[in-house]
Amino acid sequence: MATVTKLQKKSQPNVKHTECFIGGRWTPAASGKTFDTINPATEEVIAQVAEGDAEDVDAAVAAARDALENGPWGKIDARDRGRLLYKLADLMEDELDELAALETLDNGKPIRDAKAADLPLAIDCLRYYAGFADKIHGQTIPVRGNYFTYTRREPVGVAGQIIPWNFPILMVCWKWGPALAAGCTLVMKPAEQTPLTCLRLARLAQKAGIPDGVINVVPGYGPTAGAAIVKHPQVNKIAFTGEHRTAQVIMRDASETLKRLTFELGGKSPNIVFADADLDAAAVGSHFALYFNQGQCCCAGSRLFVEDKVYDQFVDKLVTMNQHRKLGDPADPGTEQGPQVDQAQFDKIMHYIDLGKQEGAQCLTGGKRFGDRGYFIEPTLFADVRDDMSIARDEIFGPVLSILRFKDVDEIVDRANNTLYGLAAAVWTRDVSKAHHLAAKVKAGTVWINCYDVFDAAAPFGGFKMSGMGRELGERGLDAYTETKTVTLNLGE
Ligand code: NAI
Ligand code: MG
Repeated sequence: MATVTKLQKKSQPNVKHTECFIGGRWTPAASGKTFDTINPATEEVIAQVAEGDAEDVDAAVAAARDALENGPWGKIDARDRGRLLYKLADLMEDELDELAALETLDNGKPIRDAKAADLPLAIDCLRYYAGFADKIHGQTIPVRGNYFTYTRREPVGVAGQIIPWNFPILMVCWKWGPALAAGCTLVMKPAEQTPLTCLRLARLAQKAGIPDGVINVVPGYGPTAGAAIVKHPQVNKIAFTGEHRTAQVIMRDASETLKRLTFELGGKSPNIVFADADLDAAAVGSHFALYFNQGQCCCAGSRLFVEDKVYDQFVDKLVTMNQHRKLGDPADPGTEQGPQVDQAQFDKIMHYIDLGKQEGAQCLTGGKRFGDRGYFIEPTLFADVRDDMSIARDEIFGPVLSILRFKDVDEIVDRANNTLYGLAAAVWTRDVSKAHHLAAKVKAGTVWINCYDVFDAAAPFGGFKMSGMGRELGERGLDAYTETKTVTLNLGE
């Protein structure tokens, strides 16, 4: 059993902003409606948040369009756009503890993860793109005839950005960084489960001096506020992170206005451990690959393939780690695993745990709710999982690890690729040829060798197949926020 840490009544971070942020002003939803945002560790309501819908999205898009075309943002020097992004990053660093506490309150993630991972990565992402703001430029191109041809890279326009709840602050920065560096304005809809830190960051952006109307935030639900952004004729581009089924709806809704789309979706990532690996390192890495963030990671290493020869000893190592994992109050710095984000995710995960048992996998740890308050689930491990079981095929998005057996390198490529998804993969081996062979053969946007979940703002991230379209981060992360314009001048005789 996992260790128990009591939920303590602690002083909570201040919830300062719960309304829509449109054109630099805080406004209630036009309908007057609100929705509850809940602390997943206690199931208590934290605050009522404005429930934006089409009318609020209209106002937000109008503010974004006006800021782009008539406001100071359209005229600002590129280097000054960068300076404002650096300033926002500095303000986030100043308020790191407060932002981390608010993220933990709204999302349930352990405070130590928020402080050590989410916030540093988010701040770093803004700084990375701040440095790009004045380095987005075109080319001069030799063409046939007496013409002078050059390209300009212009902002794509108003970006609509729809983000999930698993890494709220980080997702804000992955989306705002390249959009603002490229000179776009934006309308963001945070996930209904976790609107608070996005709203707080909007306030910090204003404090940093980013002009009003450049960033607009409309909290609310997907089929209402989200769909209104996707369908809006004055929005040029949609950046979405979430479920592939939602992306399919967005693609249909966006087809009317032919918006540019980037999607970062889910996965069922293969994590492949060979007998010749450093098995202790691979075990620690594989535990982290799945259980980090309560298993709520798009790139979670949820299909763990272990070579036959070391299968039993490797499973034992993982069982031991699960037995020592500390669950409890996410605000306690000692806690390693908090609650799932909401009742719906909790129910989905428990359903998959039942399916795993029914389909004959061996549940060696967990399998149950933890405690009687909050959406906690014990770290669950299934051994003897077969490729055709639901728990090996579907994205569970929770602390449920499936361990599968394999014989050799010949069979593993096909099995690893036998999925709808293609977001990430990992290989653990001391044989470099085998590692690079697999890195080339696996159909996934990211391959980690002897590591897992190594993220960097400079390294492109995104999916093959049903895991997405386009790439975020890195220099290519700017592509989706720019249009290329070709200008040709007749030089005469
Ligand atoms: P979701 O894809 O429905 O939600 C993500 C965002 O999209 C939220 O802001 C939501 O309000 C918005 N949205 C929903 N329907 C929309 C629509 N019709 N038009 C525009 N925006 C819309 O994901 P959900 O329901 O929160 O989670 C379901 C499953 O999706 C999870 O169990 C997990 O498997 C997967 N997921 C994957 C994520 C990733 O990082 N790739 C993140 C979150 C969920
Ligand atoms: Mg949904």
